[in-house]
Amino acid sequence: MHNETGLKPTLSQLISETSKQKTVYKPVFFNLLDVAQRHSFEQLISAKSNLRVYDHIYSQVEELIKCLNPTIVFLPPSELEKAVKNHFGEKSAEEYGVWVYYPWAEKLVHLLDEQEFAIVRTNRNKHKITAQEQAILSQKKIGVMGLSVGQSVSLTLAMERGFGELRIADFDELDLSNINRIRTGVYNLKIQKTVIVAREIAEIDPYLNVVCFDDGITEENLDRFLTENGKLDLLIDECDSFDIKINSRYKAKALGIPVLMEGSDRGTIDIERFDLEPERPILHGMVEHLDMSKYKSLTTLDERTPYITAVTGVETLSPRMKASAVEIMATISTWPQLASAVTYGGGVTADLSRKILLGNLKVSGRFFLDLDELIADPEKTSDQKITASLPPLSTENIEDFIKTNRLAFDKHEQRLPEDILSQLIVAAGKAPSGGNNQPWRWHYQDGLLHLFLEQSDAQAYLDPQYISSYISIGTAIENLLLKAADLNLAVNWNLTPQFAPNHLAWFSFTSNYQPNEQELTLAKQIDLRHTNRKITPRQELDQTHLNQLSSLVAQIPNAKLQWITDPDLIKSIGAIATQTDLLRMFIPEAHEDFITREMRWDLQQVQETEDGIGIHTLDLSNNDLVGIRFLKDKKMISFLQQMNGGSGFKRLTMMQFMASSAVGLITMPKGEINSFIEGGRAAEKLWLGATGLELQIHPVNVPLIFFYKNSVEDSLAIPLENKTQLKEAEQNFNRLFSLSTEQPIFMFRIFKADPSPERTIRKSLSKTFSIGRA
Ligand SMILES: Cc1cc2nc3c(=O)[nH]c(=O)nc-3n(C[C@H](O)[C@H](O)[C@H](O)COP(=O)(O)O)c2cc1C
Repeated sequence: MHNETGLKPTLSQLISETSKQKTVYKPVFFNLLDVAQRHSFEQLISAKSNLRVYDHIYSQVEELIKCLNPTIVFLPPSELEKAVKNHFGEKSAEEYGVWVYYPWAEKLVHLLDEQEFAIVRTNRNKHKITAQEQAILSQKKIGVMGLSVGQSVSLTLAMERGFGELRIADFDELDLSNINRIRTGVYNLKIQKTVIVAREIAEIDPYLNVVCFDDGITEENLDRFLTENGKLDLLIDECDSFDIKINSRYKAKALGIPVLMEGSDRGTIDIERFDLEPERPILHGMVEHLDMSKYKSLTTLDERTPYITAVTGVETLSPRMKASAVEIMATISTWPQLASAVTYGGGVTADLSRKILLGNLKVSGRFFLDLDELIADPEKTSDQKITASLPPLSTENIEDFIKTNRLAFDKHEQRLPEDILSQLIVAAGKAPSGGNNQPWRWHYQDGLLHLFLEQSDAQAYLDPQYISSYISIGTAIENLLLKAADLNLAVNWNLTPQFAPNHLAWFSFTSNYQPNEQELTLAKQIDLRHTNRKITPRQELDQTHLNQLSSLVAQIPNAKLQWITDPDLIKSIGAIATQTDLLRMFIPEAHEDFITREMRWDLQQVQETEDGIGIHTLDLSNNDLVGIRFLKDKKMISFLQQMNGGSGFKRLTMMQFMASSAVGLITMPKGEINSFIEGGRAAEKLWLGATGLELQIHPVNVPLIFFYKNSVEDSLAIPLENKTQLKEAEQNFNRLFSLSTEQPIFMFRIFKADPSPERTIRKSLSKTFSIGRA
């Protein structure tokens, strides 16, 4: 409850009196030589007891005289006094010039008349701006849309007298949070931004013509803004609305009005000279791929994101802007803006505006005046180890290895023709692999198919002792075995852990095998299986489906599958995964791996490398896609780490977990390479089975691999604090799955959703398969 203070009636009255002036921004001029104006002036000064009056006309005239006579030295000082007297002539000092009344401030100021005022006001511009140039500028009309940065632009332009008419548009009122970048007094809260700017310009220079568009720019008033009372000579776009940015550019282009924009992040400047290049595509062609007619019907920010980021750029934003975007839930709805950037932007824009209006600059394009780049401490040389990359296995290497290790025994079983071999290897190659590294290398010789680990593709940070690659090798073996069954081939095969990490298995084949129903069903899913990372509303799964999948896993000796279906427990696992996902970003080598080894940022990269995960296959929302692209920036990552941030990324992982029907974990006995390979086979059986049941699988193995890495690599180069956190997370994880001696191999979330439309690429056969000399 508020206490009654007894102040209320008087206070309320004063507040309502004050607010009557809310929309006033035009000063009132009095020329005392005009009888009517003198009468009004007299009324004003007698009616307003609280009027504050400022009369420094004498000093203004002194300055004027000096400006007009730059070569004369007025000495002794009485010489200047004489000149001033002369200048006043017949007029009394009071009658000289004009009196300007500012109603919103109750101030009355005595000033030179417009012509003399302009001479003194611009005198110190000379000859950076010549008198002739100043005269040209005084004829120019500029429109400014959006008054957060626009305020700074407008005031700088006004100070410089860079225009004759300024049209300013903004629909918004000042809020306290705006004062971090709009330089104004707290008494202006809830006053229209247009009014604030117009008043401030009037206080700097009451003669400048300012026209306010208090509704901001709308479809209805855009034409008026651009053309009424004469076409604009320059449009300055500082508005937030994508719609208006685009509409106003189309119109400006049609009218041949140049457009200037400043982004207040990395000093981003856009210049579009539609006056000089009438055919120029708007926004340098950056939005040409988008269907503009659709924009209006889009309802969510996520749908609008591709449009907005086409204008703002993604990779070119500053690291701190990216980090801020991640922190505000990976959306870009509220840009942070700093007074320093806005003030800087105001100065830069006013400077460019003058050059454009005077014909001293003709260029168009996007430019960066990035202070962080222009003035920076020398980069510290990175202490990151640069490891020489291994060359891929050559057929000679392989044949030598086979020979040296007496692996060229002939089982005298069937020799397969090349097309059957290809079908087998292609099916094996469709298997999943961590980061899509496809670490398999096949070689057929003397009736034996050999499987090698392609170590050059198994160097990832999150592949300690090749465990992730071994699991992937297992998935490929399972595909090969199923495909062989499908082709009526019986397979005789053996793992060769004694030759790891080089040779991992051999296979030989005989025909006339009759596959069983299950083999045929699973083989059919090889082409359809894929990773699905979608987020869909959570649905319960049929217990019989879970049981069927468990029994598939159980076909691999010692493999166990555990399900967690309770949403609270799923959330707890999600929390562990968010922790390790973020840790991955904060460890420089792991991050480097993620951006260079695992992710493929565009289709061209996908085609060139034939491995990794194309960003387009991730099933991410537009906002999250932007977030992932931000992850490329090391500076932004290190800033996020400093501020203990990353909430946007945690949210994404958490949402994926919360959308899951269940989380499954395949375990194997500890200690053997074979455990990882056989565990991989179990994972593939399960995955193909799930595909047949139209259930989607998303592996989430990062926590498992970190736990493993932390336990086998004492020297894991992360801060002790992280190690302790990891240990705690592992204990928590073991508790959730009641693990004691088993080795966790493959964790995944399972859910119902449509299949993903986009698939990952595979290496061409020639890279993964060779046939030896007979
Ligand atoms: C051992 C293993 C671990 C994996 N771990 C993850 C993971 O932690 N997160 C993820 O999103 N995908 C993971 N995947 C999925 C792979 O990224 C995916 O299989 C690969 O990119 C090929 O795509 P595809 O499964 O759609 O064919 C894993 C796959 C395997 C085999």
